[in-house]
Amino acid sequence: MSAYEHLIDLDDYSDEDLDSIVTLAQDIVKYPRSYSERCGGKIMATLFYEPSTRTQMSFQTAMLKLGGTLIGFDNPSVSSVAKGENLKDTTKIVSGYADILVMRNPFEGSAKAAALTACCPIINAGDGGHLHPTQTLTDMLTLKMEKGRLDHLKIGVCGDLMNGRTVHSLLKALSCYEGNEFVLISTKELRLPDYIKDIITKRGCKYTEAFSIEEAVGDLDMLYMTRIQRERFASEEEYDRQKNVYILDTDKMAKAPKDMIVLHPLPRVDEIASEVDDDPRALYFKQAHYGVYVRMALIISILENRIHPLPLLKGEIIKDKHCHNPKCITSTEPYLPNSFKRSGDALVCDYCDSKL
Ligand code: NCD
Repeated sequence: MSAYEHLIDLDDYSDEDLDSIVTLAQDIVKYPRSYSERCGGKIMATLFYEPSTRTQMSFQTAMLKLGGTLIGFDNPSVSSVAKGENLKDTTKIVSGYADILVMRNPFEGSAKAAALTACCPIINAGDGGHLHPTQTLTDMLTLKMEKGRLDHLKIGVCGDLMNGRTVHSLLKALSCYEGNEFVLISTKELRLPDYIKDIITKRGCKYTEAFSIEEAVGDLDMLYMTRIQRERFASEEEYDRQKNVYILDTDKMAKAPKDMIVLHPLPRVDEIASEVDDDPRALYFKQAHYGVYVRMALIISILENRIHPLPLLKGEIIKDKHCHNPKCITSTEPYLPNSFKRSGDALVCDYCDSKL
């Protein structure tokens, strides 16, 4: 079991832990200067195996604003990874240099795998199409600041619900709050994975599915737009069939409530027309700025041991069973223990959450 307080999946954190991070972030928004030396002498490593602008830079900005310093790479082809070093060795080495390590990697479950052997806390900054918990913390802070609450909200999520890790993390987190209701707006091909739908229902929230923005937008508190995740499609033709299906423009905004807010994890491709940027309900740029404050709060909470996540592996080790998901980290890092959780009669991979 790991001795560190990682952030791999927000499900590992209690409601109190989540509230305390968001509350601390609100305080940092108000009094940023009083936190400027809080992480003096600490080093953050950012290991980005996949491109990222916002997430990586917002983590780096957060650490610099706390008085800490940075090491890392954003291009694995110029690191030992290009020589064939596995994830375990890279994390072992770098986590020995740093006080906290932020990782983005295209394989699902990669952050959890890294955390199993790291010698410092790991933050999951996106593991393939699986999860993106710090984007969700950003979205939660934005909701708290702009709507004043995280419960009793009607939330539309639109776009690539199948591959969009930001949506997966967001729906899992917001379904823990009472009275939230979700409208899932996507094509048939890009529907939300069943395991997330099951979580929503299990946690007592309702969802409906819709195929157009127009039919859904009339009574939403928040509309969360997402990019079609080109890099996760098997072929360019498949992507071409899905792109441009959803475009939020001023005509559609005219059908939305006056106090509905529009969020987007960014980068946007063309799912929000630029004419919408001038609408006071379009908060995606402000949301990206909140991301720095919530990451500052997370770094402090982890380095000062203020949060107490659940253990990393929750299942049982079954030696002769292997996860079948080719995007799962266990497919490339064979030394990982084959750990599976039980869900009814099914076995679920402890790393990528896919059913065996
Ligand atoms: C998202 C991501 O990386 O998953 N962006 C982000 O974190 N700011 C969304 C995306 O890539 O579409």
